[in-house]
Amino acid sequence: MTKSDLVFQSYGRCCSRDEFFVDFYDHFMSSSDAIRNRFVNTDMAAQRHLLRNGIMQLILTARGMPDRKLRALGESHNRSNYNIKPEWYEFWLDALMKTVRQHDPENTPELEKAWREVLAPGIELIRGAY
Ligand code: HEM
Repeated sequence: MTKSDLVFQSYGRCCSRDEFFVDFYDHFMSSSDAIRNRFVNTDMAAQRHLLRNGIMQLILTARGMPDRKLRALGESHNRSNYNIKPEWYEFWLDALMKTVRQHDPENTPELEKAWREVLAPGIELIRGAY
């Protein structure tokens, strides 16, 4: 199996857990007050669904899908729009890895390494549009 196969399957196990996205945002918002403040007016139920899709886009792009949707996320997150600071993406990925460890019963250090490697180019694309 390729790394992206491993990640794709791990994400399937994570998405079958109702609390996955709730726990992700709890961890992510605990990273800093600046991050928490970005979501004060956000409908978090809707946001959890949007993120479910967004992570799928990161994985599918790593698997060869065109990057059009990630470029749109780069645009919405850039300095002219949500103004998401480039250094916040490390908190985002750390919060995601913490949530995967918590919810994927098959999680291992190698799997976490695969997640980080598979997502890196897509995250760079979004961050790089700042
Ligand atoms: C690669 C990592 C990320 C992905 C895949 C992602 C994905 C998404 C998606 C799919 C949306 C909804 C679609 C849109 O509005 O364009 C969104 C909105 C948003 N994201 Fe991200 N995001 C990421 C990183 C971040 C980071 C680091 C922050 C920092 C606080 C952040 C803050 C926001 C905010 C504030 C919104 C709008 C919420 C609202 O509508 O009130 N995102 N993100």
